[in-house]
Amino acid sequence: MPDPAGLPPTSEPTSAPTPALTALHVTGARPNFPKAAPVLAALAERGVRNVLVHTGQHYDDAMSDVFFRELGIPRPDINLGVGSGTHATQTAAVLVGIEDLVLNGEHGRPDVIVVYGDVNSTVAAALVAAKLQIPLAHVEAGLRSFDRSMPEEVNRLVTDRLSDLLLATSADAVEHLTHEGTPAEAIHLVGNPMIDTLLANIDRYDVDAAREAHGLTGPYAVGTLHRPGNVDDPEDVKALVRALHGVADQLPVVIPLHPRGRAGLEAAGLLDHDGIRVVDPIGYIDFMGLVRGASVVVTDSGGVQEETTVLGVPCLTLRPNTERPVTITHGTNQLVTRDNLAQAVKEVLAAPGGDHPVPPLWDGHAGPRIAEVIVSFLAERESV
Ligand code: UD1
Ligand code: UDP
Repeated sequence: MPDPAGLPPTSEPTSAPTPALTALHVTGARPNFPKAAPVLAALAERGVRNVLVHTGQHYDDAMSDVFFRELGIPRPDINLGVGSGTHATQTAAVLVGIEDLVLNGEHGRPDVIVVYGDVNSTVAAALVAAKLQIPLAHVEAGLRSFDRSMPEEVNRLVTDRLSDLLLATSADAVEHLTHEGTPAEAIHLVGNPMIDTLLANIDRYDVDAAREAHGLTGPYAVGTLHRPGNVDDPEDVKALVRALHGVADQLPVVIPLHPRGRAGLEAAGLLDHDGIRVVDPIGYIDFMGLVRGASVVVTDSGGVQEETTVLGVPCLTLRPNTERPVTITHGTNQLVTRDNLAQAVKEVLAAPGGDHPVPPLWDGHAGPRIAEVIVSFLAERESV
């Protein structure tokens, strides 16, 4: 990726003495970046030398570089440039790239590999760590949709099984890991680093600017859709478009559309309704400004379910399940179908929620907790 101007490489030497520990962080897809930002910062604060890998799974400016610029994430030390492909092609390219980096790269063998979430880059890096016997820390461990038709569920199961440190965002994740037989000492409930990023930047989310940018004068909805289960099959896409038109009959819907499925949704007539405004994916800060001012969000995103919960914006998740049930029990989220979406929007608009709870430990301090767990773990290993 191009170097965001002014940002030093993550591992550039500073005037501080050479730190003893090296953490190799593997990121690659859009949801990884806001999760990694606070962890990188907190480990650097603890004197750990971070080496940041970008696998290149996502590569458009709006899917990648904009997060580095806006969130002050250091420039990746390495970009593997794997790009798009089938699951096997993409996962294999990351496997080969990370293994080569660890065995032959200028940064040497790390003391720990840190992976984030549930994307293909995550599981590939986890396999390398396990095979090369490098301790593996998984940020956002233990989430389960119990739906193996989702590629992410497979990635979560494999990554967690291989991890030495399982860093969980919620109590249900701890329960799943425990139930699966993960040793208690490996599991740490640390809170949600995605929410660290959300809260750290909260003063930058400008609803008026978002309204102006999208020509909005009254209430509006925001939509994000990219799950294969929603956007890959042409018949499903037609039904999805009808459901979104049912929302647009009630209020304008701004859809920053992920590149996956965009062509199919447009071919199925998404734009044949005055109330639908499709735009390219937008930068994190502008996106949060848009979400913050929305009357309702319709999504299949994992991260957006969490962000709406903390912002107190009603969220309707177009999926049969969620690996983030805490956003329902402690938040603003509801699962909906294409058939009941329009009615659900009607009900939300008629009875907007009042005060809402926020899941425990989603308090903006997950990054330092994660750093503490990793540093303590490595210190203990060194002392043995
Ligand atoms: C991936 C993750 C998914 C995550 C999503 C976040 C896996 C298996 N899936 O799905 O869990 O929710 O990222 O956004 O890892 N494309 C571009 N530009 C880009 C990136 C992708 O045009 O910068 C297009 C390509 O046509 C590509 C398609 O999007 O084939 C899908 O990209 P891919 O990374 O394979 O999966 P996502 O659907 O983005
Ligand atoms: N996001 C963004 N601009 C957009 C859509 C999403 O900045 O146009 C951010 C938002 O913070 C979201 C994150 O990207 O939580 C990850 O989004 P995505 O839905 O792609 O991934 P998922 O969380 O479903 O894996």
